[in-house]
Amino acid sequence: MKPLSIATALFGIVSTVLAAEPRQSKDILPKDFKPPQVFKNANLVHIISLEKNYAKEQINAVIENVSPELQDEYYVPFTADQLSRVGGFEVKDRKDAGAGRFVADVAEYDPLSDVQYYRIRLPTPLKAGGQQTLGISFYYLRAYKALPALIDQTDEQYLSYEFSIYAPSAYPTLKQKTEVKAGSAKIPDYTKLAGTGDVPEYPQKQGTKLTYGPFDEKPAGASSPATVRFEFTKPVIHISALERDIEVSHWGGNVAFEERYTIQHLGANLSTQFNRVKWAQSQFMNPNSHALKELRVPLQVGSDDAYFTDTIGNVSTSHFRSNKREAVLELKPRYPIFGGWKYPFTIGWNSNAANYLRRTATGGFVFRTPFLEGPKQAEGVEYEHIDLRVLLPEGAQNVKLLADIPESSIIEHTVGLHKTYLDTIGRTAVHIKARNLVDEFRDRELIITYDVSSSITLRKPFIVFASMLAVFTLAWAVGKIDVGFSKTKQA
Ligand SMILES: *[C@@H]1O[C@H](CO)[C@@H](O)[C@H](O)[C@H]1NC(C)=O
Ligand SMILES: *[C@@H]1O[C@H](CO)[C@@H](O)[C@H](O)[C@H]1NC(C)=O
Repeated sequence: MKPLSIATALFGIVSTVLAAEPRQSKDILPKDFKPPQVFKNANLVHIISLEKNYAKEQINAVIENVSPELQDEYYVPFTADQLSRVGGFEVKDRKDAGAGRFVADVAEYDPLSDVQYYRIRLPTPLKAGGQQTLGISFYYLRAYKALPALIDQTDEQYLSYEFSIYAPSAYPTLKQKTEVKAGSAKIPDYTKLAGTGDVPEYPQKQGTKLTYGPFDEKPAGASSPATVRFEFTKPVIHISALERDIEVSHWGGNVAFEERYTIQHLGANLSTQFNRVKWAQSQFMNPNSHALKELRVPLQVGSDDAYFTDTIGNVSTSHFRSNKREAVLELKPRYPIFGGWKYPFTIGWNSNAANYLRRTATGGFVFRTPFLEGPKQAEGVEYEHIDLRVLLPEGAQNVKLLADIPESSIIEHTVGLHKTYLDTIGRTAVHIKARNLVDEFRDRELIITYDVSSSITLRKPFIVFASMLAVFTLAWAVGKIDVGFSKTKQA
């Protein structure tokens, strides 16, 4: 069997399983639900990185089954406010990278309940007394408050972040420590705590890093509110909505991309009217600023015909270069964007279909693209709502999807018909809505397989997650099957 037909066969198996029992990403638990006390954290390290526009939190824990039975569900608590802003939740075995990413979902989403949970399913149930190392990572969007909230265009910007010195946990924690990595070494304010043992006071500060603890045993749910305030001389870029449209044309041998962004700066607002003369002078003296001046969008090699428009029209200050090694679109908005300002814009480009499409051994098609592209900035980019639409050719059916992003980030996926006046049957449209992702997911893949025939029956596409990715990547890499698209694009 050729690799791709193996993959297709595997897809078949997986989709049957999913078809029989659609996976529920949300599961409503009773309002007074408390996770069964079957674990303790033998040791835990909580790392909070505030180096980007979003907060990245990592909880590395050695967990132990303290019950007499096998256990396979571990819960992580969030407040309702945190749950609305959290995303990109992923869990790995710290000692066994080959085990892949664990299944994790939102266990309860009852907005009236104060504490909500993500539920992690251990791939192998843990026996009584058994230990496992969990590497949990997630992101908070809208993570900071500018303090002061209003500044002048040449002032320094400071952001503050609230957290708990003890890691949020549904279980007792025997030993733990919390590290906070601020966005700079200028940290004028942070919560201090009486120390233990030889350490007179927590945290210990080293450059940009604050270390609280180690602490001895804390009960389940222990919390100790804290704040840190640090300098952040970068724009706080927030994309409240991204609409990413991809149109696959067999006939034209082309894939067309268009992305509509609503960008917002969530840093400190201007205290006085923007002054362009003063801006030009300050840029000459010191180009570092909290205003957004430029976005750099690396695209896939082979991208072509890029454009950048905003509400006024074509933006001529953009720059696009594409060669054999790279394709980069540099966007310079018409004016610097300060805190509280919004800037909606659209970018688009084309590529030869041969860069994205393959034939399978069984005569179907495999389409492969990054789930997200978008700007790559030193300060990071966060996405609140992502609306991804892939228009497949007329007659595409038997659609299967693989999205290599956390399952809990996808809120909806559908397949439907999109009719234009030229189509007889209508084109098959795959639609995926995702939320709360950050640019660290920018190179994760979306793979869609489909067949093309003249009569189509549409069903909800089957979606497969990261666990299957390796198989598909392998199939793609090995399966150099004739693509059937000419290298020269037809009009
Ligand atoms: C924008 O610029 C591109 C390339 O410079 C051009 O082809 C296109 O017609 C322009 N569009 C508008 C609306 O001016
Ligand atoms: C900053 O500007 C935004 C948008 O105009 C506004 O919604 C927000 O309330 C402002 N914040 C402050 C502290 O003035």
